[in-house]
Amino acid sequence: MAKRIPFRIARPLAAVAAVFALCAGAAASAAEADKVPPLENLVSNNKFVGEDGAVLYHAVCQGCHMPDAKGAEGAGHYPALAANPKLASALYPAITILKGRNAMPEFAPVLSDAQVAAIVNYVRTHFGNQYSDKLTAADIAKFR
Ligand code: HEC
Repeated sequence: MAKRIPFRIARPLAAVAAVFALCAGAAASAAEADKVPPLENLVSNNKFVGEDGAVLYHAVCQGCHMPDAKGAEGAGHYPALAANPKLASALYPAITILKGRNAMPEFAPVLSDAQVAAIVNYVRTHFGNQYSDKLTAADIAKFR
């Protein structure tokens, strides 16, 4: 990359890039990965672009939490988001995305409030989760 990226932004972006590299070789995720536009189309000025929760999930989250959100065990423990009762509170995934959680990097530097809301709303209404209450960008802004 031509420009130096501040560390706080570089860390989640590096994680996402690494995740893309992993996904490229994973046959199981090939079909889902096809839905994700190339990373360079999703990142501008070191931030993700677009507000489609599904696209953002598959670009940003699936590398660790898997395309079916069932998580993974291996070099680390990546909890399932599928049918995860902790998602009953919308603030739990929202704050996890913004601030990170243990081995999960923070995404506040690279995702807008609207993008975080879109991802939370997508995850909470897919993968066996059926929580219809929605967060807005204004809700997310309070937790920056
Ligand atoms: C680089 C890998 C990585 C990426 C990318 C990632 N996560 Fe995580 N995530 C983790 C790990 C590891 C944990 C477990 C943290 C812990 O120790 O509690 C976790 C935990 C979570 C939890 C808490 C689950 C629970 O049962 O407590 C949620 C919710 C979550 N992630 C959502 C997301 C969403 C949504 C995205 C995309 C914006 C995302 N994660 C991207 C690695 C990742």
